[in-house]
Amino acid sequence: MTKITAAITAVGKYVPDYILTNHELATIVDTNDEWITSRTGIKERRILKEEGKGTSYMAIKAAESLLEKSKKNPLDIDLVIVATATPDMPVASTAAYVATKIGATNAFSYDLEAACSSFLYGMSTASSYIESGRYKNVLLIGGDKMSSIIDYTDRATCIIFGDGAGAVLFEPNHEGLGLQDEYLRSDGTGREFLKIDAGGSILPTSEETIKNKQHTVHQEGRTVFKFAVSNMADVAEKMLTRNNLVKEDVDWLAPHQANNRIIEATANRVGLESEKVMVNIHKYGNTTSGTLPLLLADYESQLKKGDNIIFAAFGGGFTWGAIYLKWAYNG
Ligand code: UT7
Repeated sequence: MTKITAAITAVGKYVPDYILTNHELATIVDTNDEWITSRTGIKERRILKEEGKGTSYMAIKAAESLLEKSKKNPLDIDLVIVATATPDMPVASTAAYVATKIGATNAFSYDLEAACSSFLYGMSTASSYIESGRYKNVLLIGGDKMSSIIDYTDRATCIIFGDGAGAVLFEPNHEGLGLQDEYLRSDGTGREFLKIDAGGSILPTSEETIKNKQHTVHQEGRTVFKFAVSNMADVAEKMLTRNNLVKEDVDWLAPHQANNRIIEATANRVGLESEKVMVNIHKYGNTTSGTLPLLLADYESQLKKGDNIIFAAFGGGFTWGAIYLKWAYNG
């Protein structure tokens, strides 16, 4: 019997219509297009403006676009995982709502949170269910409404983040395609450098926490940058060496879109020329759990069956890692 591998068989995406440009941001905080572009590579990001709409709205749209393209029957889906750092609510599962809304009523579902590494970790989780033979159709959605946790008077963070979601379907494969290897890491000493102080169990919401603006993302950018550069590059390199891959064997690098300089440093370490590096940070900024599936959706038409893709991500916690996956169909 051949080993079951977990392959991505369909992708979908959704980004809100509203485009927040660098020029508009320069009217809100003391910044400018030149600074943002040269330091991050970001030109614009999408914002979910409508009141009453949360991450589930984008996750549902991304899943529906996948279902429509793939003609997959939602009743055949066994499991829905929503990778997100911005669930609709602190307690009720966002994934349960999404699964019901898309008609995946035979599925169980849950949220998975690992900051900017949520989707990468979710790829590992989804694949493990498939490889074990326990389930056959796992829908993994990654998305965040970062605008709901950003302080738009803080120029150090508001220029970076945006809203969006992407979805992928994992199914069993008997040709050896799909997830080949993973190396996932975490280091809890990093949580001081990228976090939201209040609203959790350590510091519940109070008048004081609201007054002190402790419900939005605080990031020590320079420190996070240093860790992100060295760790993302290390794990990407490790994926190549321990799978006996040389740079010519790699068709694509799919890096978390946090900063173009981090993306370039990772690509340089593994010796990849820019044509092989998936990039859409200029359009969407950092959508946290949405970056990797949004890349796949944007590059789907260029991907070929058998392509070797190296994914790498780094995020709050700290959490980080890399995955080596063989693409399973022609785009
Ligand atoms: O995805 C999760 C993980 N997150 C990341 O990977 C993000 C990692 N960090 C970064 O991408 C970068 O650190 C930032 C983009 C956040 C900041 O870029 P930087 O090159 O590290 O800038 P910096 O924080 O060292 O600040 C340099 C200067 C400072 O001024 P002084 O002290 O040199 O006078 C800042 O006050 O740039 C100033 N500055 C700005 N200037 C114009 C900071 N933000 C802005 C801004 N516009 N938006």
